[in-house]
Order: sequence, then C-alpha cells, then structure tokens
Amino acid sequence: MSALPDPNDEAQGRAYDHRLAQRLFAFLVPYRRQVGFAVIITLGAAGVQLAYPWLTKEAIDLGIRHRDTYQLDRIALAYLSALLMGMGLGYLQTQIMQRVGQSLMRDLRARIFRHLQQLPVAYFDRQPVGRLMTRVTNDVDVINEMFTAGIDALFGDLFILIGIVIAMARLNVELLVVTFSVLPLMIIVTLTFRTKVRSAFRDVRTSLARLNAFMNENLGGMSTVQLLGREERNHEAFRTINALHRDANLRANRIHAVFFPLLELVSAMALALIVWYGGRQVMWTGITLGTLVAFIQYTQRFFRPLSDLSEKYGILQQAMASAERIFELLDTPIDPAAAKLDAGVGDRAGSGENVASGAHAPAARAERAIRIEFDHVWFAYVDEHWVLEDVSFTIEPGERVAVVGATGSGKTTLTSLLLRFYTPQRGTIRVDGRPLSEWEPTALRDRIGLVLQDVFLFSGTVGSNLTYGGVPVSPEQARAAAAEVHADTLIERLPGGWDSEVRERGATLSSGEKQLLAFARALARDPELLVLDEATSSVDTHTERLIQSALRRLLSGRTSLVIAHRLSTIHDVDRIVVLHHGRIRESGSHAELMAAGGLYRRLVQLQYLGTADDAATAQK
Ligand SMILES: Nc1ncnc2c1ncn2[C@@H]1O[C@H](COP(=O)(O)OP(=O)(O)OP(=O)(O)O)[C@@H](O)[C@H]1O
Ligand SMILES: [Mg+2]
Repeated sequence: MSALPDPNDEAQGRAYDHRLAQRLFAFLVPYRRQVGFAVIITLGAAGVQLAYPWLTKEAIDLGIRHRDTYQLDRIALAYLSALLMGMGLGYLQTQIMQRVGQSLMRDLRARIFRHLQQLPVAYFDRQPVGRLMTRVTNDVDVINEMFTAGIDALFGDLFILIGIVIAMARLNVELLVVTFSVLPLMIIVTLTFRTKVRSAFRDVRTSLARLNAFMNENLGGMSTVQLLGREERNHEAFRTINALHRDANLRANRIHAVFFPLLELVSAMALALIVWYGGRQVMWTGITLGTLVAFIQYTQRFFRPLSDLSEKYGILQQAMASAERIFELLDTPIDPAAAKLDAGVGDRAGSGENVASGAHAPAARAERAIRIEFDHVWFAYVDEHWVLEDVSFTIEPGERVAVVGATGSGKTTLTSLLLRFYTPQRGTIRVDGRPLSEWEPTALRDRIGLVLQDVFLFSGTVGSNLTYGGVPVSPEQARAAAAEVHADTLIERLPGGWDSEVRERGATLSSGEKQLLAFARALARDPELLVLDEATSSVDTHTERLIQSALRRLLSGRTSLVIAHRLSTIHDVDRIVVLHHGRIRESGSHAELMAAGGLYRRLVQLQYLGTADDAATAQK
C-alpha cells in the first residue's frame, strides 16, 4: 500500500562512509575557497570563546585583587572587543556557510532533475513520484544541514574542546582531574539517550511519511472518495495513522523531557564539585580566585560542544543515508538514447530557422514523409509476460493506418515502442529503413506528432501549451493549427482566451477541450508522422463532431498511425490493423475487413448495436 513508507527511506547507516563522503565533497570543490575561509573563521571564533574565561581570571587576579582600576579597565575593554569580534566572526561564518549550503543544494537538485529527465520511461513505472520528490527535497535538505550545521561547526567544537582542556591544564591539573571525574557519567547519559532519541525521531518521521502519503493519495482522488462514499472509512484510517503520529511525538518529547534535565544535573554536579573542591584549594593552597572562576566558566563551556558533537554524529548519519539514496538515483543508468538529448538541442536550434522561414509548406511534406516498419516485434513490460507477440506491419509514406482492438490488447504499447519510451525484447522497428536504435531520439520525436490517450497539459497559458516543445512553433502557427482543428472557437470561448491559465494537467478543462488542444498542439509542429491514441472518454455530440472533423483534417495527406476506439472515425483510412491479445489478427481496408467477416466486422456490428464496452467483451 502506498501509505507505507519505503523502509529504505528510513535506513540508518554508518555515520561515515568514505566513498559517499568523497562523492559529496566533490560537490564542494567549486566552493573550496569559501569553505576554507569559513573554517578559518570558525577556528578564530572558537579562539575568541576560549578567551572569555581567561580574561575573567585576569580581571579578578590582576585587576580586582590588586585594586588596580587601570588594569581592570583594560581587561574590560579587551573583553568587550572579544565579544564584538566573536559576534562579527559568527555572522560571517553563518553567512558564508549558508551561501555555500544553498548553492550546493541548487547544484544537487539540478543534477538530480537533469538525471531524472534522462531516465528511461520504464523507470517511472517502478518509482512512485512521491519518493522521487523526497530525493529532490528532503534528502537534499539533510545534506545541506550536514554542511551548514555540521562540518565546519565540527571543527569549531573539536577545537574548543581541545582548547579548553589545554587552558584548564595550564591553569591547574588537579582541578582538571576533579572536573573530569564526572565525564564518564556524562558520556553514559548522553549515549543512552542519544540512541533512544534517535529511534523516537525515526518513529516520528515514519509516521509523518505515512500521514503525508495517505493525505496525498486521498486528496488526489477526492472525487472518487466522495463518489464511493469512502469518507467515513478514510476518516477511520486517518485517525489511526494520526494517533500513531501523536504517540511517536509524545514519546520523543518524553525522552527529551528527561534527558536535558539529567544532562543539566550532571554538569551542575561537575560545577558543584569544582566549587567545593576548588574553594578549599583557594582557601588553603595557592590557587587564585581568578583561576577558580575561570575553571567554572570553562567547565560550563565544555559540556555544550560535547552534547553538540553527539548531535552532529546523528546529522552525519542521516546525511550519509540521504547521500546514499541520492547517489543511487544518480547512478541509475540513463537511457543511452536520451543521453544524446543534450547533444541534439544545439542542432535543433539551427533547424528552427527553417521552420520560421516557412519551410513548412505542405508541398514539402511528400519528400519528408516517413516510413515505419515493425519487423517481428516482441515486447513485455515484465519478464516474459508478452504484451506484443511477433507484430509485423509497415506504414508507407503518406499512408494512414489505424489500429483497433480490445482494451489491453497492446495498442498504446505500440506507440510507446515507436517513440522509444521502451525497447522491444525481440525484433526491430525501422523508420525510413534505419533501426530505431540508430536514430537520435530527439531527431525522431521531432518528426512525430503525438496525441496521447490521456492528454497532458502543462501549467501556463493555453497559448504556451501549443508552442511548447523542442520544435519552435510561432504563435501564428499555433493559431493556424488551432483553427484547422476547430480549437480556435473553443479557445476564444475560454474566460481568458489564448491567455487562459491552464492548471495542473489541465484539470480545469473538459476532456473534449483537452483533446482538441492536443490535436492543435500536435498539428502546430507540422509533424511528418502523426500518432494518435484516441481517448476512450465520451464527449457530447457537438464536440464529437468537432473532433471527428478535426481528425479528418489532421490525417489528410499525412502519414499517420491512429489508434481508434470510435470505429466510425476510421472508415476512410488506408489500412486497418486488428490487434488481439498482442497479435495481429487481421489487416486490410474497411471494405476488405467487412467483407472478410472476421473480428473487425464483429467489432463494427457491436459498436453500432451497443457500446464499445460490449464489443470489447465480445472479443475476449
Ligand atoms: N507500464 C506498464 N507496466 C506493465 N504493464 C503495462 C504497462 N502499461 C501497460 N501494461 C499492460 O500491457 C497491456 C497492454 O496495455 P496497452 O496500454 O498497450 O493497452 P491498450 O490496447 O492501449 O488498451 P486501451 O484500449 O485500454 O487503451 C495491458 O495488459 C496492460 O496492463
Ligand atoms: Mg491504450
């Protein structure tokens, strides 16, 4: 079920993986100067931190005890300068690391998106969109956190800890030993609670992921939810997941509520020990009061970076897990054909001038016409579950071929293979005599106009949807194409006309409207081959007539492959191919097939009698 998060998303790996770290740091290379600068600044800021207790000691021992106001003023001034410097350095450090972190995230996201665009279409059959979104957002964020809150602060923390130990040792070794006698207790408390906290937060994240997945699915399918009256049941399911999330959060908070006071207690004990033991030393031996005060301050400054360090360990661990998932995605082999996509962009910019200069005259079409040949093609989406078996047919230049067949007989699959979204296991598909594998996908796709079964429109304006794509399409061409398929009246009827907003996937347009827009979009590119996967959804008779007539205009004199559900649309195509369970059963003109009295004739009769659904059932 989709509400279950991928266990892989929650894996907690090692805190440090050399191979992963190396690949991550490769992304830092362009920013090495800034990072180096930030590390130096961090060390400087840590040094300033070490100075405060030392200055306090000097103030007490040199100034206050000797009643030397001059010294005291000087030290107070030094303290003030140190404070200001610490503030300035802290600001600089944050600014630099934030800049580096944000740039790094931008680079990573760009890499991921670029890679995603080149992955074979089959990859997206297996990967839920939600998980891929997580790669681009969450995982990248976690890595950013490692760089901004982790790496350079790690240097700072380590530096401070070492610096404090050295400073304390120089002040008084005996007091140092006393202070550190509580350290084992401190470490035990921290380690015990760290693991508890981490597992609690993992539960919080898992339950949140389930909550999001559940919301996502049910909001997306709201009309179906309401139609089927699933509100109560969904509400119940939601309540369960919701309660789990609350419990996980409460558990995490409970652990926190115990952990921090306990930590406070231990460090307070260390302080008490110093005051008690050190106080005696001040009274009976030579230790100065300043030393004792400095010690107290150092102790307070010591425990914070210590607990920070263990938190940073957790961040590092998460970042490595995120990095692993991101690199796994980046390592997914891209479609070797799509890889050439980038190379093809340049060529197209050149050919775009031809389009603009009017090389689109229909007269030129005959010589540009395209020849398609399916040669004993076998294809399965999974293993050996053949969807197409030994399919062979040709479409001669200028010929109009229709494919008909029951639902699931493999019609859409044919078009996916032709456009190289998938590769057949056996057999060859040739375009103009050259196998598909030898074609550059862009060069090929640019010559094909495609209208898919479910029309996909991008968000933007209606106009931009028609001019969208690698082949340059001028607004005039778009308008001409729209007029040819009768989409212009429809567009002008829309509230904003050509500038009407198209929402996500064209959610605000009707199926018929989308279909007409898709026709216009395909025609505007003036493709040599038109591939049309007719939508099964029914439209009103007026729109139906518009679509019918638009179709005729689209197909006239153009090499085309039409997948038809309304058999009435294809009476006048040159040839009809009947597909049955992935095999070609019949082929010929409408008249020939009707005369033959086979599957096609039965389909046509059934469609005249009843609905297409009956026809589909009858075929089985
Ligand atoms: N991405 C995919 N992964 C696995 N199986 C698929 C995939 N797409 C389609 N199939 C299966 O392949 C078979 C043929 O599907 P196809 O979409 O080609 O049918 P169709 O003839 O276009 O049907 P319809 O008339 O309903 O559009 C079906 O059994 C379908 O379940
Ligand atoms: Mg289909």
